[in-house]
Amino acid sequence: MIIILGGRNDEHCIHVANHLDKLKEEYYFLDTRNYPIFNWEATSQNCGSIIAEGKRISFCDIKSVYWRNYYSVPFEKISDDEFVSKMVQREKESALSSLFYSLKTNWVNSIKAFELHKKKAYLINLMKENNIRVPNTLITNDKDRIEDFFDKNNNKIIVKPILGGAYTEKLSKNDLTKERLDSLITSPVQFQELIDGVDIRVYAFKDEIYAIRIEADTIDFREDLNAKLIKTELPKNICEDCKKVMQISALKYSGIDIRLSNQGEYVFIEANPAPMFIYAEKQTKYPLTQSLINLLTS
Ligand SMILES: Nc1ncnc2c1ncn2[C@@H]1O[C@H](COP(=O)(O)OP(=O)(O)OP(=O)(O)O)[C@@H](O)[C@H]1O
Ligand SMILES: [Mg+2]
Repeated sequence: MIIILGGRNDEHCIHVANHLDKLKEEYYFLDTRNYPIFNWEATSQNCGSIIAEGKRISFCDIKSVYWRNYYSVPFEKISDDEFVSKMVQREKESALSSLFYSLKTNWVNSIKAFELHKKKAYLINLMKENNIRVPNTLITNDKDRIEDFFDKNNNKIIVKPILGGAYTEKLSKNDLTKERLDSLITSPVQFQELIDGVDIRVYAFKDEIYAIRIEADTIDFREDLNAKLIKTELPKNICEDCKKVMQISALKYSGIDIRLSNQGEYVFIEANPAPMFIYAEKQTKYPLTQSLINLLTS
């Protein structure tokens, strides 16, 4: 039996569920916005059960988990003392995430991969250590160190958040107004060398690699609603790098973002642990759903 971690309102969760229906695979949604009831003997392997959609599921019967969304544990006011409510939230969160770390099943993908993905700058560092080409990157809230980084990278820079939540923006020295530099003190940001070129999105399922070239008019393709998705082939060494990135990032499948520079260099941006794929499949006819279903059911 398969667990779909996410909500019944999520397009990708529903899509996967529909395909499991066709295969007559039993599955249940686990939507953590409603904190689940569970019992777990932390000292013995897979001993315990969890109630998902009214069904008591023994841990040892879980064949795999499709991790789409873990909504974390919502804050609930259970006392006038905010500290007490926060403590309860922390307790619930720790119990559930410890269970996710411990449960031995086919996680697609695992909590470890998701936690690692939140340390994007560390992953950039790991990729570099593994001889994978990544953009020169500076993370700082120190306005006095920025000019030097711009000079070293020929004044061709982008800025983006460290974790995410805002679009990537091109920047030149002229954009470094006093106001902007002073605002840095509120939070560090991420500067990178600008990789002028096109986006490549790779869907990787263990050893299967499907690459797509994205032609967009904006620096961050998500801003261009008319972006074109075109099937492409990757050089062998870049396929190997994709596999290495998956290994470093503890991923079984991923949507890997790469920039192909105008000079023909492949530069790795990041590897996403729960990528959207329905639109990409429609545009390219790659068998992305089937590859994911294979991972979950084999
Ligand atoms: N160094 C760079 N040079 C050129 N373009 C870049 C660079 N970094 C990012 N981009 C563009 O911006 C997009 C988003 O970048 P990235 O995935 O690093 O940001 P994010 O905020 O982490 O996004 P997400 O919401 O996917 O987590 C990339 O897919 C690419 O199109
Ligand atoms: Mg991204």
